[in-house]
Amino acid sequence: MHRFDGIRCIVTGAADGIGRATAERLIAEGAVIVVCDRNGAPLDSIGARAALTLDVTDPGAPAALMQAAAEHMGGLDVLVNNAGISAGAPIEALSDELWHRVIGINLDAVFRICRAAIPSLKASGRGRIVNVGSVMSTHAAAGMGAYTVSKHGIAGLTRTLALELGPFGITANYVQPGAIVTGITRDVFAADAAFRDFWTNKAAVRRLGQPADIAAAIAFLASADAAFITGHGLLVDGGALQSP
Ligand SMILES: NC(=O)c1ccc[n+]([C@@H]2O[C@H](COP(=O)([O-])OP(=O)(O)OC[C@H]3O[C@@H](n4cnc5c(N)ncnc54)[C@H](O)[C@@H]3O)[C@@H](O)[C@H]2O)c1
Repeated sequence: MHRFDGIRCIVTGAADGIGRATAERLIAEGAVIVVCDRNGAPLDSIGARAALTLDVTDPGAPAALMQAAAEHMGGLDVLVNNAGISAGAPIEALSDELWHRVIGINLDAVFRICRAAIPSLKASGRGRIVNVGSVMSTHAAAGMGAYTVSKHGIAGLTRTLALELGPFGITANYVQPGAIVTGITRDVFAADAAFRDFWTNKAAVRRLGQPADIAAAIAFLASADAAFITGHGLLVDGGALQSP
């Protein structure tokens, strides 16, 4: 399929996991892309028009991304905000530093990059924003307060963007991955068989998710086929949340 021939995309956090799989999927379907990650070395093998080593929380990051999109692609049609971290502590023990770090990467940076991208997406005429939320955009987990708040924030931010940008032909949606084997989770799943088995069996399809599962959903929401879907949170969890 070449759904993305000539379509210009940005993917953040593309060095590993869901971001990398998404970048590879979009390129395989004909897209030109700009990628970034704070861990720059793995980006070189993706085949992007430009690969930026940057921290998305850097105040200059949104402008650097938009400049790269303008310089290397002549504009922007699809923005995928994927970069994120998972870190937790019970609220009683949650430091200001950890709170700000999680919210800063998972939510503040997404807000700033979306804001910076709006003029280019308006110029595109078929703009797409796909933010990476989580099952924790609608659910909560003890000990994961900052992460849960950040991903609930992704839902509120994206739904607001959908309303504000719809009149300009731009859709804004978020995916809600379940338990996916990536850089965030790989070591935990390998070390903790009970945790791995819990999530494997909780999924109706009886397996953990792979980055390609999420990349496929992101590509759908970024495609022309999803033109009438906006403000939507798409669960991609193998059915894990269908039972309590
Ligand atoms: N793995 C899961 O089970 C799961 C479930 C739900 C949601 N998610 C979300 O998926 C997204 C991608 O995570 P993943 O699971 O693929 O993990 P990952 O660690 O494999 O990939 C995340 C990438 O983001 C980069 N990154 C992190 N902080 C950054 C920063 N400040 N600036 C630039 N780059 C940064 C990392 O270097 C890494 O390459 C995250 O938003 C995460 O919250 C993951």
